Amino acid sequence: QTEISTTFIIFGGSGDLAHRKLYPALFNLYKRGFIKEHFAVIGTARRPWSHEYFQNIVTEAIEESTNDTTGVTEFASHFYYQSHDVTDTEHYKALNQLSDQLEEKYQTHGNRIFYMAMSPRFFGTIATHIHDEHILGRGFNRLIIEKPFGNNLESATVLNKQINASFDEEDVYRIDHYLGKEMIQDILPLRFSNPIMKAIWNADNIASIQITLAEQLGVEARGGYYETAGALRDMVQNHIFQIATVLAMPEPKNLTAHEIHESKQAVLNSLVEPDAAELAHDFVRGQYAGDEDTLAYVAENQVSPDSSTETFIAGKIKFGVGPLAGVPIYIRTGKRMAVKQSVVNIIFKNTTNLYDDASQNVLTLEIDPTNTISLVLNGKRVAHAGLKEQRLIYEYEEHIKDDVPDAYERLIGDALVADCTNFTNWHELKSSWQYIDRIEQFWAQAGKKGLHQYPPFCMGPKEANQIFESATDKWI
Ligand code: BG6
Repeated sequence: QTEISTTFIIFGGSGDLAHRKLYPALFNLYKRGFIKEHFAVIGTARRPWSHEYFQNIVTEAIEESTNDTTGVTEFASHFYYQSHDVTDTEHYKALNQLSDQLEEKYQTHGNRIFYMAMSPRFFGTIATHIHDEHILGRGFNRLIIEKPFGNNLESATVLNKQINASFDEEDVYRIDHYLGKEMIQDILPLRFSNPIMKAIWNADNIASIQITLAEQLGVEARGGYYETAGALRDMVQNHIFQIATVLAMPEPKNLTAHEIHESKQAVLNSLVEPDAAELAHDFVRGQYAGDEDTLAYVAENQVSPDSSTETFIAGKIKFGVGPLAGVPIYIRTGKRMAVKQSVVNIIFKNTTNLYDDASQNVLTLEIDPTNTISLVLNGKRVAHAGLKEQRLIYEYEEHIKDDVPDAYERLIGDALVADCTNFTNWHELKSSWQYIDRIEQFWAQAGKKGLHQYPPFCMGPKEANQIFESATDKWI
């Protein structure tokens, strides 16, 4: 791997995301040679930390993430801290000076990667200051930005303008960490390198798809943010739409980022808009209640006691073009559900006339907690008449499991080598916000009517079982 020389400027350097994900990811990229000698990392946040203190924090973050910390002292010595108020113009000047110094010291050729990893309400302010205080470098300038990118189409458009004042679209890396997950990256090879998959991946053979992103945790310390988001904006607008798109996109002309984005855009443009009756029937929202041991959502810190924010959503989406045009894609996600599991089930049509007891074939992609693909087939019951379901499982060998890179490591590595394939581009974002805005508006009018309470640690409100087109369908 050739070393990429750059300075990283991380807004949100004292934050939880940086600690848990970004520093360990950078360390792994360091071990793999993506960054070596010619790099520096400036962490910024409000607290007044010294460089040494920051380096200790970074070292701790690495120690918490891996047993193999060889090289961590040298790695951490590239980290610098700048106390920074994102609204204070002077602070950007200081940041620029420090960047210049480090560029000199580490010979990073004026390349800068800005990383917005702090509260989204400051993204626009930071973007504007980057522009007005001229803190772009002389080499390449890239921006990696966390979600949420706006809160609706309107605010996303404003933010995009603020960002585009300094960064070209191809230099904006909008992170959707699901796109960095191994199993999501396995969808295109699965679909297009296997003739048998390619042949059956269409509306003639696929009856429906289910995407479930279930979490056991509640909103934890993020009640304030979550009140402005809810499950629809937090998980559907980005992760679920991206997964559905990769499943349903037409075969791209080739595997370049450009063609993959073209193909994704084609299906996203064709999202079938639900009418009012469909909005009422096909989208179910819920909010977790509490019990003796567990706080209800409305009792969580920074959550309004009469909040109508949804912590669960189930719904049905459809694309109008592509191999799965018209196939219902059922989606659900929520907090405080029975399991932590991210899984896609592809359910095939049952076309046999000979066997009454044949089950539907189901292809399952488990994204978390394991990375497995499995296929339910029918087989003969041994020594008896009749059929028995059999599951074929494809999983990685033990020694490979450890090699699966974390989504952040992979995506930051991609941004380092300027590969935008697995990032969300503006057009994709626009289409998904348009769709989400309609649901949000519908819900805003309905208020709490239609917001179902569900007990903690179940699979959401029972109403979520009623969105299926076929009476025999149910959540897997
Ligand atoms: C984030 C959401 O994007 O994804 C969180 O903001 C959620 O609310 C998280 O917990 C889930 O990610 P993962 O990788 O744990 O499934």
